[in-house]
Amino acid sequence: MLHFNLIAAVCQNSGIGLNGDLPWSLKSEYEYFTQTTKRRSDIIKHNVVIMGRLTYLSIPKHERPLAERINVVLSTTLSPIDLPKDVLLFPNLESAMRRLEQTDLCERIETVWIVGGSGIYREAMSSPRCHRLYITIIKQHFNCDVFFPKIPNCFKEIEPDPETPLGVQEEHGVQYEYKIFQK
Ligand SMILES: NC(=O)c1ccc[n+]([C@@H]2O[C@H](COP(=O)([O-])OP(=O)(O)OC[C@H]3O[C@@H](n4cnc5c(N)ncnc54)[C@H](OP(=O)(O)O)[C@@H]3O)[C@@H](O)[C@H]2O)c1
Repeated sequence: MLHFNLIAAVCQNSGIGLNGDLPWSLKSEYEYFTQTTKRRSDIIKHNVVIMGRLTYLSIPKHERPLAERINVVLSTTLSPIDLPKDVLLFPNLESAMRRLEQTDLCERIETVWIVGGSGIYREAMSSPRCHRLYITIIKQHFNCDVFFPKIPNCFKEIEPDPETPLGVQEEHGVQYEYKIFQK
């Protein structure tokens, strides 16, 4: 069975989004997201990023699809012609995962990342396929209209990866910390 990890930045009031965008502007935090989802030990393989329609559309046009990763969008309202040719479209998470593990693509995949938003995070955390949660805990309240679901009790914090910056980070007076949880 093909597994996945999840990555999200979550503020103190559990928010992740506002008006179709991130509620904050944290350059280094976004760089951590990019580096983590790109990182692979075998350069012949690729990582996959799976996201909902609104998360895909929240990425600035010139930055999407996310570079050096196979982009998968979940939507029941978009059709393939609405997306660049190299973006894969599926109606739900399980159909995307089944297709990824069935095709010859599977041998070329290193890590599958779930990158939001809210409903997909919820579905992902309740799936037996879910291995790790990479959560940036932002130690501040932000006005938000999209929220991260409650993390199920079966996930426990583990030691950070060697690549994870340790301790409290700070940008523009906003403090945050990188955490990893595993089932
Ligand atoms: N802080 C973070 O780490 C982070 C990460 C990602 C996104 N965000 C923010 O979150 C917001 C977008 O997230 P969102 O939750 O509003 O939307 P979303 O999950 O990105 O997109 C929702 C759409 O995805 C499709 N979908 C397919 N399967 C789904 C499923 N299992 N559950 C829910 N939707 C599914 C549906 O599209 P159809 O209606 O076409 O069927 C649904 O309307 C933006 O503000 C973005 O900036 C923050």
